[in-house]
Amino acid sequence: MTRSRHPQTPNSEKSQNEVPLFGGRVTPGVVRVGDTVRRPAITASPFVAELLGHLERCGFAGAPRHLGTDGLGRDVFGHLPGWVPARFRRWSDGQVAAAGALLRAFHDATRDSGLVGRCSVVCHNDPGPNNAVFSAAGGVPLPVPVPALVPVALIDFDTAAPGEPLEDLGYMAWTWCVSSKESVPGRQAAQVRVLADAYGLDADSRSGLVDAMVDRQERNARWWRVRLDGTGAADRRRTVERIDWSERERAFTVAHREVFAAALR
Ligand SMILES: Nc1ncnc2c1ncn2[C@@H]1O[C@H](COP(=O)(O)OP(=O)(O)O)[C@@H](O)[C@H]1O
Ligand SMILES: [Mg+2]
Repeated sequence: MTRSRHPQTPNSEKSQNEVPLFGGRVTPGVVRVGDTVRRPAITASPFVAELLGHLERCGFAGAPRHLGTDGLGRDVFGHLPGWVPARFRRWSDGQVAAAGALLRAFHDATRDSGLVGRCSVVCHNDPGPNNAVFSAAGGVPLPVPVPALVPVALIDFDTAAPGEPLEDLGYMAWTWCVSSKESVPGRQAAQVRVLADAYGLDADSRSGLVDAMVDRQERNARWWRVRLDGTGAADRRRTVERIDWSERERAFTVAHREVFAAALR
């Protein structure tokens, strides 16, 4: 699996220049070394390597390169310059539209590959703002104010798998446009439409987008629930909070289902 074009880290010691990267919620030990990111290998690493290799060959610029593995067995990715938000927040219509177009370009790049099995595309499965790299329009150097940034790439393909576009779009609609904390369903629904339009979602699929959002909220709660056991007290508390949050978000979306559905017609 190791490809030769990346220098090896000696087995015995970590590089002196490892900078911990925070902001992730799942993977301990993600570090930056120069212009690379090192992540502990996971079961899905071979699929991720194949997927990112395919995207590279397609000329898709919205994902990191997989550069092989280092001497500690970690996956080595190219570091993408920009800003990765650690927290969810409200985004502008322009930022949401850019995210929708990015997701569409990713799906389209996978569509006719040998990676999709019987499905239509490869889904990222976690395309929240926390897994997007933002850059300033026109390549202006950072820092710039958040409203001047646009998402240009996705990272963290750990849960990528063959799937259907609505699975990712439902997750994106929820995590980029909807929050039960800001109970303004009309404004949020209008933004879900912006997302669907930017993605180029066809008329038939639009009617399934609200269900797809609810499905992803349920899947998220389930995903964290199976990780409850075997964690320490602090992790357990954070995991319980994430389950509760997913359930609140689901209840909010279901309560305003008609507002969301109407905006998509
Ligand atoms: N290829 C990359 N380019 C730039 N930053 C990255 C890259 N990969 C990871 N990061 C940074 O590391 C953090 C954690 O990585 P991530 O793969 O999202 O881990 P987790 O599985 O914990 O969510 C991200 O929030 C981001 O700031
Ligand atoms: Mg992540």
